[in-house]
Amino acid sequence: MQREYVNAADLEWVDGVYEKLLVKMRAECERVGTKIPYCPKDGKYEDLGYPGGIHFWTNGFWPGMLWQMYEATGEECYRTAAEGVEERLEVILTDFKGVDHDAGFLFLPSAVANYRKTGNETSKMRGMQAANLLAGRFNPEGNFIRAWGDGMDAFFGKSDVDVSGWMIIDCMMNIPLLYWASEITKDPRYAYVAKRHAKTAQRYVIREDGSSNHIVGINPNTGEFVDNPGGQGYEKGSSWSRGQSWAVYGFALSYRHTGDEEFLNTAKKCAHYCISNLAVNDWLPLVDYRAPEEPLKYDSTAGMITACGLLELAEHVGEHERKLYVEAAIRILKAGDAKFNNWDPEVDSIVDGGTFFYHDKDGSNTEVPIIYGDYYFIEAILRLKEKALFIW
Ligand code: GLY
Repeated sequence: MQREYVNAADLEWVDGVYEKLLVKMRAECERVGTKIPYCPKDGKYEDLGYPGGIHFWTNGFWPGMLWQMYEATGEECYRTAAEGVEERLEVILTDFKGVDHDAGFLFLPSAVANYRKTGNETSKMRGMQAANLLAGRFNPEGNFIRAWGDGMDAFFGKSDVDVSGWMIIDCMMNIPLLYWASEITKDPRYAYVAKRHAKTAQRYVIREDGSSNHIVGINPNTGEFVDNPGGQGYEKGSSWSRGQSWAVYGFALSYRHTGDEEFLNTAKKCAHYCISNLAVNDWLPLVDYRAPEEPLKYDSTAGMITACGLLELAEHVGEHERKLYVEAAIRILKAGDAKFNNWDPEVDSIVDGGTFFYHDKDGSNTEVPIIYGDYYFIEAILRLKEKALFIW
């Protein structure tokens, strides 16, 4: 459907990228297999190369890439590797040590993707276990899902409330796990939690002008709003671009799963904020849309996620609105491809220029290839090829 809104030159670009993807991903799959990649060192992925180990929130993206490629090509190597990674992730569900709200990021692109594609019952149970863990983080006084575990407040933000009262914008991408759980069990409790959380996010995380806070502090005993500390962006009140992209995609998904028009309008408001900021910066995402001009820092991953969010949004608007979102998505993808992408099949990772957080002291997390940049780039291209697996 979205291809109708893409001009001939851009379609040719999409088709060319897809051909390169087939070569690159085939080579990567053979090299990486069931390792769990994050950021390559000297062009090669290490297994669990980030200190977070098996629990780290990004560990679902490699199986997500593999399931996307399996959907597009039917090649068994992708499925076998994805199944192997999913088995490795199972420990997260049983040891209960590092699991937080990112149960969605971990298990939607792994176990739930497997279930959606193959109907595997064990994968369905893993998805349900993850959904129960996520629902268990709901705070009914404040109507929000607690984001992180104890100690995370040492890394990001300074709030008058401890981390038990923190919700963050990223969680809008985790709650689709709850919509899925209600869909397959016919039990509305999971979707209820997701909707309540999304309404609270709408009220306290998203600002009037369509920009997004990263973190909200809520008194966990009374449910009262306390503050909006800074987070992974430049400072309190600034505009962390990846958070903004989670807002666009997350609210569009909450609309898809609930049909609540308020979620659609919030997604549009956040999208328009992103589009205008990207349009004045050659369609390349800064780490923070409200940071000093120097040093110039990009986060390519924010662009790839925003593009997927815009393509999702395009599915839910009328024909005269659709072109805006599809065309903006293409411009972001093309600008990102030209500046950041590495198509050498001998090198692991495609999208360079990803930044984990603004105030990175040693630079090791600044403008580097990060696995989720690749995941969302692939999802966007496969959406435009009409070959994507719906994962969220
Ligand atoms: N969800 C964490 C991040 O976007 O960095």
